[in-house]
Amino acid sequence: MSTTGRYTITAALPYTNGPIHIGHLAGVYVPADIYSRYLRMTGNDVAFICGSDEHGAAIPMRAKKEGVSPQVIIDKYHQIIKQSFHDFGISFDNYSRTSAAVHHETASDFFKKLYNDGKFIEETSEQLYDPEAEQFLADRFVIGTCPKCGHEEAYGDQCEKCGSSLNATDLINPKSTISGSEPILKQTKHWFLPLDQYEDFLKEWVLVGHKKDWKTNVYGQIKSWIDDGLRPRAVTRDLDWGIPVPVAGAEGKVLYVWFDAPIGYISSTKEWAEREGKDWEPYWKDKNTKLVHFIGKDNIVFHCIIFPSMLKAEGSYILPENVPANEFLNLEGNKLSTSKNWAVWLHEYLEEFPDKQDVLRYALTANAPETKDNDFTWKDFQARNNNELVAIFGNFINRVIVLTNKYYNGIVPSPSTFSEIDQKVLAELKAYPAVIASSIDRYRFREASQELLNVARLGNKYLADEEPWKLVKTDEERTKTIMYVALQIASALATLSEPFLPFTSTKLKSMLNIGLEGTVATEWNAIATTEVLLPSSHQIEKGTLLFSKIEDTEIQKQLDKLEATKKANEAENKVVEPQKETATFEDFTKLDIRVGTIIEAEKMPKAKKLLVLKVNTGINIRTIVSGIAEHFSPEEIVGKKVTVLVNLAPRKLRGVESEGMILMTETPEGKLVFLNPDEDNVSPGAIVS
Ligand code: MF3
Ligand code: ZN
Repeated sequence: MSTTGRYTITAALPYTNGPIHIGHLAGVYVPADIYSRYLRMTGNDVAFICGSDEHGAAIPMRAKKEGVSPQVIIDKYHQIIKQSFHDFGISFDNYSRTSAAVHHETASDFFKKLYNDGKFIEETSEQLYDPEAEQFLADRFVIGTCPKCGHEEAYGDQCEKCGSSLNATDLINPKSTISGSEPILKQTKHWFLPLDQYEDFLKEWVLVGHKKDWKTNVYGQIKSWIDDGLRPRAVTRDLDWGIPVPVAGAEGKVLYVWFDAPIGYISSTKEWAEREGKDWEPYWKDKNTKLVHFIGKDNIVFHCIIFPSMLKAEGSYILPENVPANEFLNLEGNKLSTSKNWAVWLHEYLEEFPDKQDVLRYALTANAPETKDNDFTWKDFQARNNNELVAIFGNFINRVIVLTNKYYNGIVPSPSTFSEIDQKVLAELKAYPAVIASSIDRYRFREASQELLNVARLGNKYLADEEPWKLVKTDEERTKTIMYVALQIASALATLSEPFLPFTSTKLKSMLNIGLEGTVATEWNAIATTEVLLPSSHQIEKGTLLFSKIEDTEIQKQLDKLEATKKANEAENKVVEPQKETATFEDFTKLDIRVGTIIEAEKMPKAKKLLVLKVNTGINIRTIVSGIAEHFSPEEIVGKKVTVLVNLAPRKLRGVESEGMILMTETPEGKLVFLNPDEDNVSPGAIVS
């Protein structure tokens, strides 16, 4: 178990260009929250720090698209994101934003310090420039082919396919994402952090120093970056959205967002310390403080190479103790995507499942993408709830609370002598805090969540084996002992569940009437060291259900919603055929289109696609062969009104002469539909013009 100490825990600052979804929660914020809550409960001094990242390039882009100022966008999403974190019980000590004055000042000072200490290279070079938009292009403002893997939609700073970090000028066939035009090269001055000069430091610090204790996925990425050779990295940009470069001769330039954002961790800590009347510096400068960054895998290079080099260059800061980055979470087999709306948005989830924050926290933890990408499915979510939280955890607690109220009016009974089984169960219970802690200490939150469930399993099995509901009729003393033991397990669960299921933990504590006035030990370690967790004659409350079953219909509703998103995306991506050559009015009037009624329909023998129709065109009743057999059965279309091109030159199809054509169109999913003249009083022969 970890010894008490000081921890600065950071969670990646989310971009404020959209709300947050389950991928964010699973990859970063839930594990960071479990870790922080657990550390607090074991007596550590914790600063759990986050805030909004408001200078990302996607923000002014989104603003432009919506026709509002970037400030409107960041204010909107800062609020939504902050609220989501609050709603899901993410226990940040401070949630700041990079537009805050304290951050502008901190980031500017950081830059100036490195500038004055001669840590930057100043260089005028040719950069991509969009002559139409009159803007330099870097990062997300330019796409092109990745020189490393050939991916055709690599960004100017990174290829999302192969993960390579790029400079915009590395791209093959670059294109401006603002105007679509081909960029030209234009001279501009920038400041670079010479990462190549930090290679030895990085090798020593990570490759040697953390080979054993960092996750292999993280270590592997860092190693391949270093092996690829590090190059100077520009830390300024020619943009008008961001923190102005605070030196003379840098007008119109701002700090690169990945230079300013991680400094946001420091400014957020300052804001917190100020409010709490503390000194921020030990949290960032005391060698005994452990700094841990929780991030997703796309952020590894920034937190393990660039930011540490910045901190090293500054000279007075500590370096991260660990960066337990997670892989990605997919949703029902597809990559989560803000732009494609392929996501479960947290604020929308809460509208559907208003009291099930912990269920999502649990499902995401139990299936966390810790060592590989994982898939979130609504079926798994339902199963985690129904088969684990309801059937195991909830069921155990419910039995204990109900029986204690029924037998003893809610008063914890006095045990007599413990049987061998009782002693074994109590000893096993005392071991769990260390078991769960050991998983958490190694950032194995999935494993930890399953050990937590094992505590409830222990309780369930104990009750099932001892059957107090039977013994109560014959052996009152023994029943009291059993219920006493079961209540100790319930009490331990109330504490041990807190990092994972904070809302449930609070509910359970109030049911057990503990931890509210500090009457009973609830500290993590106390479970192992205290003889009695819930003393005899302690009064508990009446219970309510901790969890409730999720029905198939609720899951189907979510699946339908995703299906609708998929359809909408397909429709949007469907290429619209270019317009045909101009037709004169005379050309058009040559076509004779009428309303007709299908009066007979049958399948063309041995032809999968064809139906032979008899259509009343008002002029006459004629035969039309139509390729709609895969979309309609003969029965369903008899009597239907349709539009018919009646003067199309007759032609033979499979030996049957077709005298006209039924006009159809297609849905995005490729289903044929009629152009229906729906009005009742339109009759066959009516001209379409
Ligand atoms: N906004 C970034 C993202 O969502 C993360 C920034 S982390 C920080 O990928 F370190 F820069 F703050
Ligand atoms: Zn690539």
